Amino acid sequence: MKTDFRIGSLSCKNRVLTASGTFGYGLEAAPYTTLAALGGIVTKSVTKFPRAGNPPPRIAETTGGMLNSIGLANVGVEAFARDKLPLLRGIGTAVIVNIAGSSIDEYIDVLERLEHEQGIDAWEINISCPNVREGGLHFGAKRETAAAVTRALRPRTRKPLIVKLTPNVTQVAEIAAACADEGADAVSLINTLVGMAVDVRTRRPRLSTVTGGLSGPAVKPVALAKVYETARAVSIPVIGIGGIVTAMDAIEFLLVGATAVQVGTSSFRDPDTAVSVARGMEEFCREQGVEDIKELVGALRVDDTGAVPGFIA
Ligand SMILES: Cc1cc2nc3c(=O)[nH]c(=O)nc-3n(C[C@H](O)[C@H](O)[C@H](O)COP(=O)(O)O)c2cc1C
Repeated sequence: MKTDFRIGSLSCKNRVLTASGTFGYGLEAAPYTTLAALGGIVTKSVTKFPRAGNPPPRIAETTGGMLNSIGLANVGVEAFARDKLPLLRGIGTAVIVNIAGSSIDEYIDVLERLEHEQGIDAWEINISCPNVREGGLHFGAKRETAAAVTRALRPRTRKPLIVKLTPNVTQVAEIAAACADEGADAVSLINTLVGMAVDVRTRRPRLSTVTGGLSGPAVKPVALAKVYETARAVSIPVIGIGGIVTAMDAIEFLLVGATAVQVGTSSFRDPDTAVSVARGMEEFCREQGVEDIKELVGALRVDDTGAVPGFIA
């Protein structure tokens, strides 16, 4: 049975990747899972300079999910290239490096610093972090700025460019289309939804930053709707992210049009989740007589007008 896919020169043995920021730099989970059984790993966002992130508390549990305001804490591109990347070479799965910046020049600097390093299969460009004051969501919330980041990076790399989009907009498909027009090879979505939680006894917000990003099973229906909208609007591959815990969650994303998926928050509970999802998807295909998993991509029973056959209008 076929489970692999390609996006340009990026070749993945199955359609399950780990989501940025939820799997460290890729190696932290190695003792608890089988990295080589993943379609790929996406590193946490790497920025030009090291970042300590936001002060604690920067995590809060919510019904069916969690809020975070980590704020892109990371070691910075130099330490990433020196200490992390060498360990990622030869882990037996695709390595996608996620880049963030507070200006377009910073995205360029990180990409150019790493472009000729061995062991990077593709880039994911984070223009959608809600937890930083400058940059992040600022670039992802508007068509023009999303296009500008993509336009600036496209001529500087031959590797596939995956632009990671925010759900905190009215029409994500328009932003995806703007990135596709500028040469993005794929888009991934969703990043977290802006949310907050309050401690009623202390009357304080639960996060030091007041608001943060919501993720986990609670966001899955929103993510599915955004992926569905996007996949119908663009012809480049869409990678679905948001609340995936089981193989059936991932299959839902494929049916609405995702070429592949990323598993995020649920890896905190069990770092082997992404591998179980990949195995469960294979089992489902075998059960259903599906020979190539790509048969499921966009196979939702909805016609071109959005009507559902068999449902009475
Ligand atoms: C603690 C935490 C840290 C995250 N850090 C990043 C990050 O550095 N870069 C990024 O692009 N997304 C980051 N994300 C967003 C996830 O990659 C993912 O898009 C989002 O959580 C939705 O997927 P999920 O519901 O499966 O977690 C982070 C999410 C969480 C929960």
